[in-house]
Amino acid sequence: MRNLLLIYLFNRVLTVKPSEEIETFKDLQVIIDHFNQYPLVTAKKLDYDLFKKSFNIIKHNQHLTEQGISKIIELKSSLNKGLSENLKESFTGFVSGDGSFNIKATKVRTGKIQLRFAVNLHIREQEVIKGLAKFFNFKDNSYIYSTDTSVAIQIVNTSDVLNIIIPFFDKYKIKGAKELDFTDFKKAAEIVKHKGHLTEDGLNQILVIKDNMNLKRK
Ligand SMILES: *[C@@H]1O[C@H](CO)[C@@H](O)[C@H](O)[C@H]1NC(C)=O
Repeated sequence: MRNLLLIYLFNRVLTVKPSEEIETFKDLQVIIDHFNQYPLVTAKKLDYDLFKKSFNIIKHNQHLTEQGISKIIELKSSLNKGLSENLKESFTGFVSGDGSFNIKATKVRTGKIQLRFAVNLHIREQEVIKGLAKFFNFKDNSYIYSTDTSVAIQIVNTSDVLNIIIPFFDKYKIKGAKELDFTDFKKAAEIVKHKGHLTEDGLNQILVIKDNMNLKRK
């Protein structure tokens, strides 16, 4: 019984299919030890922490008490309802670290401006990136780029940047230094949205923003 519950939780948490390989409590302990040694980052971590709490309750036989049971039920329900919310919050978390907002002026004279949002992660976070693409309703992994060691989501499509990415970060605030880059990026995007980049004045404003963000920020 305790194994079944944990295996169920584990499936929810890591969305792997471990049922064949993970059959005993001992196997789960091995997994916990593994992740203690090599901590998960990003979205999975929150879910994993919930899983680990449940594991510890059961390990110490506290699930046999009423208090332990209600604790597990509480953890399980926060897993169920919280997944997408967790994902959104973790996403802003790793954007704060590994995301970038860039403005590219490819052909300055013609006012060709590209707004680019990207997040680069280790290949082991592939599922997180895919989950996000799905969450944003981007079709068929169209914005996902992988190499042997890394995976990235990169969005340059102006209408997706304006209608999806910016509203998302208006709602789920980026923390730390990158917040300033987002603010600048958004100012430039506002100009693009109203076709200001096609005027000399608007284009110059964008170039000033571009020259004072990211690494060029003073
Ligand atoms: C940009 O995204 C919009 C909406 O998702 C889509 O209709 C359009 O075809 C895309 N443009 C390009 C150049 O891919």
